[in-house]
Amino acid sequence: MSKPKVYITRMVDEKYLEAYRDQLDIRMWEKADEPVSRETLYKELADADALFTVLSDAVDEDLLSKAPRLKIVANMAVGYDNIDLEACRKYNVAAANTPDVLSETTADLGFSLMMATARRIVEADAWVKQDKWQSWAPFFFAGTDIYGKTLGIVGMGRIGEAIAKRATGFDMNIQYHNRSRKKEAEEQLHAKYVSFEELLKTSDFVMTVVPHTKETDKLFNQAAFEKMKSSAIFINISRGKVVDEDALANALKTGEIQAAGLDVFEEEPIRADHPLVSLDNTVCIPHIGSASVETRAKMVQLCMDNILAVVSGKEAITPVS
Ligand code: NAP
Ligand code: GLV
Repeated sequence: MSKPKVYITRMVDEKYLEAYRDQLDIRMWEKADEPVSRETLYKELADADALFTVLSDAVDEDLLSKAPRLKIVANMAVGYDNIDLEACRKYNVAAANTPDVLSETTADLGFSLMMATARRIVEADAWVKQDKWQSWAPFFFAGTDIYGKTLGIVGMGRIGEAIAKRATGFDMNIQYHNRSRKKEAEEQLHAKYVSFEELLKTSDFVMTVVPHTKETDKLFNQAAFEKMKSSAIFINISRGKVVDEDALANALKTGEIQAAGLDVFEEEPIRADHPLVSLDNTVCIPHIGSASVETRAKMVQLCMDNILAVVSGKEAITPVS
């Protein structure tokens, strides 16, 4: 009997796949730094049983309509705003993501971005490497303290809680906003539940880690930035589309807020002439929240395990609900 066919939309090192080769017929796009073309995908999907996607692949009705045998889309990300779940239901295709395995790593990155932005690490590093360091002065590269400050987390989910855990070690006051309260997290992490407006007004650091949905689209708009303290630092590790980037650039230029650390952007990849990159008070990184070798290996494995489960007639291990 022939093995179920899996197509992977980006190059993955063979060492992560070899354990699956005896059960699955695995093919992939052989380039790591270039997305698969739509034409190639159409061709591959003509007889594929499973599709392994990355977060920049749009899985839409058009694509699914060209995949008569497809049983599962396994997305190598916890966010799944690139997948049309309605179309998946219509074509009876399961969708799976990679929750939990990346939470701690993404929280590390969120915290690093907050620290890098507050303490001007990137700017200071460039100063030394550009051979500009001449002397020491009392307020030379003086940034903002993190310890003892108030951190407002918008989206106190798996990653939000892992960030809050880190913040307790910095003696930060933690507040959060979700649609629903998490009493257990409040007790364990000494986190205070506040309204979105209260969080914006009273936080020194505002970190967003909500999924991108219709409800959160451009949640951080001009009105939101106007409510923040002029000393506030905004950190986005969720999705670029939860922010109105023009409003953010304006808030950073006019001093409505102090600085921003950004891992995600509305349209990725961005170029060096992007309005948020040219500002001195931003730290911009290329969507690397979960990018540790250990975690990326776990994410690949979870995608492959989800695929194996579904093509064997079982439920996905981590289905998107
Ligand atoms: P999660 O456990 O589902 O947490 C999401 C949280 O957001 C939940 O607590 C949810 O609480 C809250 N939320 C959802 N909609 C909301 C709304 N309209 N207003 C306020 N709060 C809302 O997800 P996770 O695993 O922590 O991941 C969160 C997101 O992080 C992902 O969807 C992805 O976009 C992003 N992410 C980015 C990277 C990166 O590389 N930068 C890496 C991993 C994840 P309620 O349901 O109670 O509202
Ligand atoms: C990364 O952005 C993810 O959603 O896993």
